[in-house]
Amino acid sequence: MNIVLLGPPGAGKGTQAARLAKASGLLHLSSGDILRAERRAQTELGQKAQEFMDAGNLVPDDLILTMMMHHMSKPEATGGFLLDGFPRTVAQAQGLDVRLSREGKKLDAVICIEVEDEVVLKRLTGRWSCANCARIFHEAFSPPKKNGVCDNCGHSLSRRKDDEPDVVAERLRTYHELTKPLVAYYRDEGLLRPVRGIGSVDEVGEAIRKACPGL
Ligand code: AP5
Repeated sequence: MNIVLLGPPGAGKGTQAARLAKASGLLHLSSGDILRAERRAQTELGQKAQEFMDAGNLVPDDLILTMMMHHMSKPEATGGFLLDGFPRTVAQAQGLDVRLSREGKKLDAVICIEVEDEVVLKRLTGRWSCANCARIFHEAFSPPKKNGVCDNCGHSLSRRKDDEPDVVAERLRTYHELTKPLVAYYRDEGLLRPVRGIGSVDEVGEAIRKACPGL
């Protein structure tokens, strides 16, 4: 299966994608995590992406499409993939459709996790993540066992620079303007599976599995 997880920043895409990938064996491809790894490695792409990400703006479509198609064509992706954070504009979605069909592939479902803007702000300003294994925590909703330390790999946890309230506001504005039109795009393609993102992580996971049997 090839699945897209859509939704505003902080909806829980990364949290749910990691769990679904573990349970299903699909390859989890997070455009945000890939970009952050490129930045840490100081690659040309990482350096180009930096200023867009820190301001809460989108990285240009052509860079993202090339980067994501490269990861989707790796041997680990032959069993199917879960895309998290991509596509994020109608141009990216159209580019993805064209390139997948050239390879004889297609998307099977687009899960849209729906969460209000006020909830996003609370979730993102309390998020801590592990730069080593990408595990995500929240200081109130899913705290690590030991403050500041990843339960999974023992690496220290950090806050994302783009989780500052003013950058979150810009990311939400960008979401409503450029990414939300994808809801109609995928509804028209018959692929959209809307899921309410409020409730515990387990409850949202269960709602996703109900909306997308086989995951
Ligand atoms: P990216 O890293 O993709 O950020 P995002 O989409 O804004 O999503 P987040 O990672 O912030 O949130 P999430 O939905 O994964 O939520 P999470 O599970 O962490 O992108 C960053 C930047 O990269 C972009 O701004 C852009 O510049 C660039 N970029 C990336 N992709 C791009 C693209 N395709 N095109 C152009 N540019 C691109 O959860 C959030 C918090 O809530 C956590 O603390 C978690 O513990 C908590 N939480 C999760 N679920 C629940 C729950 N059910 N109840 C309570 N708390 C919960």
